[in-house]
Amino acid sequence: MGLPGITRFLRTAAGVLTYPQDPRSFAQLFGSLSSAHYTRGRITRVHRETPDTVTVCFTAGEGWIPHRAGQWARIGVEVDGKRIWRPYSLSAPEHGDPSITVKAQGTVSKHLVHRAAPGDVLYLERPEGQFILPEMPTELLFMVAGSGITPVMSMLRTLMPRRPDHDVVLVYVSRTQESCIFHEEILELADQFEGLRPVFWFTEERGRLDVADPRAVGALCPDHQARATYACGPDSFVTAVEHLGEASGHAPVVERFDVTRASASGQPGEVSLLRSGITVSVGERDTILEAAERAEHPLPHGCRMGICHSCLVPMTDGAVTNVRTGELHREPGPVQTCVTRPAPYAAFDA
Ligand code: FES
Repeated sequence: MGLPGITRFLRTAAGVLTYPQDPRSFAQLFGSLSSAHYTRGRITRVHRETPDTVTVCFTAGEGWIPHRAGQWARIGVEVDGKRIWRPYSLSAPEHGDPSITVKAQGTVSKHLVHRAAPGDVLYLERPEGQFILPEMPTELLFMVAGSGITPVMSMLRTLMPRRPDHDVVLVYVSRTQESCIFHEEILELADQFEGLRPVFWFTEERGRLDVADPRAVGALCPDHQARATYACGPDSFVTAVEHLGEASGHAPVVERFDVTRASASGQPGEVSLLRSGITVSVGERDTILEAAERAEHPLPHGCRMGICHSCLVPMTDGAVTNVRTGELHREPGPVQTCVTRPAPYAAFDA
């Protein structure tokens, strides 16, 4: 890596690891963060990555459990006087102050992208998730699309300095170079660590990449079948990588950041929350979780993508449809409210 590259790398690293400079800010930080019911964090820096994406760096107060590279955490943000929780992948490397990288989609993310500032408080839950580096990683293939780079960036930032001899191929699909989060930093990492080979695929220039097609992926990474594969991105992208894995007999480790619904819309329905004594109308595009939130009656949740099971609520009557598979469930028992809709009525012990 040449001098300009080194300078850019150090500037980026310094940006990611910025701490409050004023000693009073440390006292304020830990004084106020340690007494909270929830673990709290204080934003130390907001760094723009692309026109609609920022990295929010923060220092976490007492009770925070350091994350493993690839994990996510629920972050609570005060928006117009209301605290709203959303899951975000942690983009910082292990053993440092945490950060999240956020694209302006949805109320909380737009707030973070457009209004978050150093000094703001975040509410934090413990990091979770099994999309993590193996203990003894060998040859790796990361396949990501769009914001799916976020947990993988934590892995690369952790893995490459620890094991510079590592053999890692990153296939990264994004619309354009301008919208490619961490593009420059990834090139700098590849300059610094020979074992990292990034392959960028910009769909506006090259069209769609069929990641389920062994020949298409083989053209980018000839030994892809021999590598431990990690995939992160939209549901459709990750499902295609799973099909690729089926063809080679190696299941990838995957993380999705959205839910593809089996049909564009369902029928409107209703759910009764029996202990609260309320009935909630569920619009034709809503899940039960979303409808309950809209009705100002939030239900427990974590990932919002059918992964973590934090949203299980006992169904006592009626039926629900899984929005991903279209499958109908009539049996009373725990239901994942983040991926189901009433069909057309369901009652819950909630
Ligand atoms: S919130 Fe994680 S499975 Fe529903």
